[in-house]
Amino acid sequence: MTTDVAGKPKRPWWLIVLGLIVVIGLVGYSSFRLAMGVNQPRVYANDADHFKYGSISSDVGGLPYWIWATLPEVCRAQLPGGYASLGVIQEPGKMTPIGFSVRKVGLLDQVGPNCALCHSTPVRETPASAPVVYLAAPAQQLDLMGYFGFLFACGKSDSFNKANVLAAIARHKDLSFLERQIYGLAVPQVKKALITGGEQFDSIVVGRPPWGPGRVDTFNPYKVLVFHDDMSKDKSIGTADFMSIWNQQSREGLWLHWDGNNDSIDERNLSASIGAGATPLTLSSDLNLAGIERIKQWIMTLPPPRYPFAIDYAKANAGHAVYDKTCADCHEQGWKNYGAVIPTAYLGTDPERQKAFDATMAGKMNTIGKGQPWAFHRFRPTEGYASHPLDGIWLRGPYLHNGSVPTLRELLSPVAQRRPTFYRGNDVFDAANVGFVSDIAQQGPRRYYAFSTQDRGNGNGGHLYGVDLSAGDKDALIEYLKTK
Ligand code: HEC
Ligand code: HEC
Repeated sequence: MTTDVAGKPKRPWWLIVLGLIVVIGLVGYSSFRLAMGVNQPRVYANDADHFKYGSISSDVGGLPYWIWATLPEVCRAQLPGGYASLGVIQEPGKMTPIGFSVRKVGLLDQVGPNCALCHSTPVRETPASAPVVYLAAPAQQLDLMGYFGFLFACGKSDSFNKANVLAAIARHKDLSFLERQIYGLAVPQVKKALITGGEQFDSIVVGRPPWGPGRVDTFNPYKVLVFHDDMSKDKSIGTADFMSIWNQQSREGLWLHWDGNNDSIDERNLSASIGAGATPLTLSSDLNLAGIERIKQWIMTLPPPRYPFAIDYAKANAGHAVYDKTCADCHEQGWKNYGAVIPTAYLGTDPERQKAFDATMAGKMNTIGKGQPWAFHRFRPTEGYASHPLDGIWLRGPYLHNGSVPTLRELLSPVAQRRPTFYRGNDVFDAANVGFVSDIAQQGPRRYYAFSTQDRGNGNGGHLYGVDLSAGDKDALIEYLKTK
């Protein structure tokens, strides 16, 4: 210990810092972070990298990176295969899988999900092939419910404590004295946040059928997180398949989302970022909005991916004529019902997702962002589902808004011939039927999800267009759809 001129013992600098942290820790960890004044998203020069790893500002309130990264070790029993077993796509040498951004807040890196988590998928030609990653495609392989379920269960468990967390982090990173103090303070805060998050999560998933891979309850999370609704009497099921988001320019002015509830591309993009964890408050910053605007510009003209396997063009040509006769009216630009919302009473597909977004909910969504230039005002309830463009349709299975029909071939079959149960989550392509392999329960450590069309919201009826075509016409039509 050194002594100053007045003869009083002078404390080492780090004790003063520690004292400061403890005092501020009492005031609140978050004010400490703000006091540090650092708030920097990572910046990527390339648009595709920005899509994969850039911030949409969900990381502003995100988890400390090292706590998040080591959770699967802290709670090994609850996720023995690590995050990879949930279907996330890990590229070599990256801090996170595709679909997560990292931002420096104060002294800590924080992590949050971005668009690519739900909007990118790997495709393998055979189980032995290397996966090819398609950005902006529905993440049909991603078990998002498993991901959230794991975070919250781990946060609640006894294993998630300061000693275990620090030990797990120390296995990967030399922690400075100061970092140890900061992570030590963060652990109880994170625990509290995960417990609260878990209660909110339970209020929208308990008593409802599991999402399974490739799906999420779209609007019920808003009721809890944004509107603080009492969910005890709400039995609605808003579970929907992730969508493709390429070629958005072709969708400008169309009433889209599965049920056609919004005709503004900006509102669809911004509401997505709020769904992913951004808040109206974080979106009031131009910097945060810029991250989303950049993605919007990129997906505006991003072309749908070409079918990567063989196509019989003569057959596809014959299929074009079948398509024009049977499908184009609703699915092709310039035709009468392109973009139209077809009432469920007529269409016959499962009504739950459409019913979950009612007039009350539309009214509430239109209150988000009041006073901001981007304030929402284009949400509306509908009576059915929208007729979307079919670009890149080969990569959009399982099909329909609830992903209840595994392949194009089954969609062209009468309901009795569509399978009542099949497996979701495989990324091996089924080129014969167009979709993903859906008859295998498990491969290596990866278990696929047994999807039951008997569950509420999972009905596979309806959309009976083309089911009466001859076998030859169906083959030709499927071949043509590969070219879209
Ligand atoms: C948690 C998963 C998830 C994340 C993260 C996510 N989305 Fe989506 N996205 C969905 C789902 C599910 C739908 C379909 C919603 C519905 O209608 O029920 C959708 C629909 C969309 C649509 C409408 C497409 C159409 O043709 O109607 C757009 C545009 C979109 N998302 C863009 C984005 C952008 C941009 C981001 C990042 C800012 C993002 N999404 C993040 C799950 C997600
Ligand atoms: C009367 C209008 C109409 C006709 C005709 C029509 N569709 Fe559709 N289609 C829709 C609507 C509406 C949806 C959304 C239904 C849902 O998700 O519940 C849809 C959904 C789809 C989907 C699922 C899209 C996805 O991303 O999962 C495919 C594939 C499809 N249609 C193909 C066809 C084909 C092939 C034909 C011709 C044999 C056809 N459709 C005829 C209205 C139509």
